[in-house]
Amino acid sequence: MTVTTANRDTRAGAAVYTKTALKLYDFWVHGFSNHYLWHCPTEQLHALYQRHTSANHLEVGAGTGFFLKQVPFRMLKPRIVLMDLNPNTLETASRAIHHYQPAGVLNDILATQQPTMPAFDSIAFNYVWHCLPASANKAQAFTHLSRLLNESGVLFGATLLGKGVPLNPLAKAVMKLYNKKGIFGNHADDRASLEAALAANFSRYDIRQEGAAALFTAWK
Ligand SMILES: C[S@@+](CC[C@H](N)C(=O)[O-])C[C@H]1O[C@@H](n2cnc3c(N)ncnc32)[C@H](O)[C@@H]1O
Repeated sequence: MTVTTANRDTRAGAAVYTKTALKLYDFWVHGFSNHYLWHCPTEQLHALYQRHTSANHLEVGAGTGFFLKQVPFRMLKPRIVLMDLNPNTLETASRAIHHYQPAGVLNDILATQQPTMPAFDSIAFNYVWHCLPASANKAQAFTHLSRLLNESGVLFGATLLGKGVPLNPLAKAVMKLYNKKGIFGNHADDRASLEAALAANFSRYDIRQEGAAALFTAWK
């Protein structure tokens, strides 16, 4: 496993993923929250992965490997690299797709020093942007990701917006609590700020809103 430095207050957005929390994660996030809080059907996120994941893939913000383990790789040995700030998620996601022998990189996507490695044909950055602290220059994450993407590669994922989206009272309360605890840093994120971050780093991009989520794809 490669290890690079973690940084300041970015830790809070990753620290919540303890081994116990990860046992409940798929049910709470992709079973309950997507449906009842964020109104973004999990199938839409699966569809993004099915469409764009390549056999030379970087997964940033590994979580439990929930989406990746359902991608039907046509190659026996795809190159899959998992990157995360939290060793628990790297371990859990690696176990979920152990048959592909993924590599793990412990890294804060906002750290100024990013690991160097051969570029990828696809990068997933799903449900991570909203975890980055509001106090940081979050657009920097896309700058780092674009450097890891091949010229013809694709970046894809989704992020929950904290501003300018309709939220039911429970969703509003959960979003507020997560922002207070530093689990999310998205209270100021709206479609325009996501668009600005993508436009600054990619020549072409697409954003589609599903409830509180913005699904994006971007090309260099
Ligand atoms: C909400 S989970 C999303 C997991 C997975 N992508 C999914 O869609 O289920 C956020 C993930 O991003 C990771 N993460 C949070 N902040 C990070 C950072 N600054 N750099 C790298 N990974 C980070 C967390 O540890 C966690 O694995």
